[in-house]
Amino acid sequence: MSTQTITSPWWRSAPLAKKALNGSAKFWFSTVLVGQAIFSYYIVMFYYKATLVNQNIERFNEIMPGGYIQGDFWGNIAVVAHVLLAAIITVGGLIQLIPFIRTNYPALHRWNGRLYVMTALTISLTGMFMIITRYEKIVGTFIGHAAVTLNGAIIVVCAVQAFRFARQRKFAQHRIWALRLFLAASGVWMFRVGLMAWLSIHGKPVGFDPVSFSGPFLTALYITVYILPLFFMEIYLRAQRSPSASKKMMTAAMVLTISLIMTLGVFAATMGMWLPRI
Ligand code: HEM
Repeated sequence: MSTQTITSPWWRSAPLAKKALNGSAKFWFSTVLVGQAIFSYYIVMFYYKATLVNQNIERFNEIMPGGYIQGDFWGNIAVVAHVLLAAIITVGGLIQLIPFIRTNYPALHRWNGRLYVMTALTISLTGMFMIITRYEKIVGTFIGHAAVTLNGAIIVVCAVQAFRFARQRKFAQHRIWALRLFLAASGVWMFRVGLMAWLSIHGKPVGFDPVSFSGPFLTALYITVYILPLFFMEIYLRAQRSPSASKKMMTAAMVLTISLIMTLGVFAATMGMWLPRI
C-alpha cells in the first residue's frame, strides 16, 4: 500500500483562504479611503470655496448645467445643500468604517453615525428633488435618472434600518445595514471612478455617447454601481461565513479585481476630473 501523503492544493488551505479574503477587503477599503478622501478634497475646494468663500454659486454650472438656475430659490437651496453635504457624507462614512475609531472612540462613532444617517437622508431627498424639478437640465437619460433615484431610495432604507438596529442595540444587524448604507452611499463616487477607469482603459468614449450621455456601457455602469454593490457585499459576507476555502479564494479574487479597477479609476478621476476642476 502506498504511504504517499495526499496534500490539498494551496488554494484549498483554510488559513490562507481566510487571509486572502481579509487582505482583499483591506485593499478594497484602502482604495476607497484614498479615493473618497480625494473626492472630498475636490468637493471642499470647488463647492465649499464657490459657496462660502467666493459666494458665487453660478460657478457650479461649470460642472453641472442644472447647478444654479436664476429665480429658482428652492432648487438652488437643494443643490447647495446637496453638494455641501456631499463632503460630510463622504468623510463621515470613512470615519464610521475605520476600526480604530470604532473601538477607541465609541462616542465619536455614535455621534458621527447620527450625523451620517441624517446626511444620507437629506442628500438623497435633495437629489431626488433635483431630478424631479430639473429633469431636463440634468445630464443623462431616463435610465440614469431612474438608477440614481433608486440608489437614493436604497440609501433611505439602509439609513433607517442601520439607525433602528443601533437604537435597539442589535449590533449584528446594525453592522450589516451600516455596511449596506456605506456601499449605497458610495454609488455616486463609484460611478465617477468606474467611468474614468473605462475611459482610461479605452482612451476615448466607448459604448456610450458623451454628448447625450447614453449607451450600453453607461446603463451597465448605473446598475453595477448603484444597485449591484449590495449583491457583491452579500457574496462577500457569505464567503466570510462559509467553511469552503475555494469559495473564500474566489471571492478574494473578485474583491481584488474590483479593487484594482477602482485603483485605476481613482487615479484617472483624480488626474482627469477632480484636480483640473479645482
Ligand atoms: C450619497 C452620496 C452622494 C454624494 C456624495 C453626491 C455628490 C454629488 C456631487 C459632488 C455632485 C456635483 C457634481 C460633481 O461635482 O460631480 C452631485 C450632483 C448631483 N447629485 Fe448627488 N450625491 C450623492 C447622492 C445622490 C443621490 C442619492 C441622488 C439622487 C437621488 C443624487 C442626485 C444628484 C443630481 C441630480 C446631481 C446633479 C447632476 C447634474 O446636474 O449633472 N445624488 N452629487
